[in-house]
Amino acid sequence: MSNLARFSISVESDLLEQFLALADKRSWRNRSEAIRDLMREALVREEWENDEEIVGTLTLVYDHHRRELSDRLTSIQHDHHELILSTLHVHLDHDNCLEVIAVRGRAAQVQQIADALLAVRGVKHGRLTATTLGRRI
Ligand code: NI
Repeated sequence: MSNLARFSISVESDLLEQFLALADKRSWRNRSEAIRDLMREALVREEWENDEEIVGTLTLVYDHHRRELSDRLTSIQHDHHELILSTLHVHLDHDNCLEVIAVRGRAAQVQQIADALLAVRGVKHGRLTATTLGRRI
């Protein structure tokens, strides 16, 4: 780790107590690591809110028997191929498919394609997880 800076902060004792209990629960190695994680989380959220370039994964579960559903999902991805890095398809059982789609692009564009895919009728559940290209943190 380079250029370590030290700083002290003041915090209400109740808040500190709760935070340290959480740090224990989450197995953060020490208080510094806990604070660093929260800082990075805030910075990643800021990238997202500023519509910067981000990466993420969109996870979908759907019934592939549903008429034209697979075609519709593929078609939406082709329409936005510049945002799609890769797709992993898992046949969960006779009826259900799991798809994990890696995406990269401006936050608003990524959100838009995620919303479009999640809105397709027959998609049972889905979630977009946004993270960072890691350039600043
Ligand atoms: Ni399948």
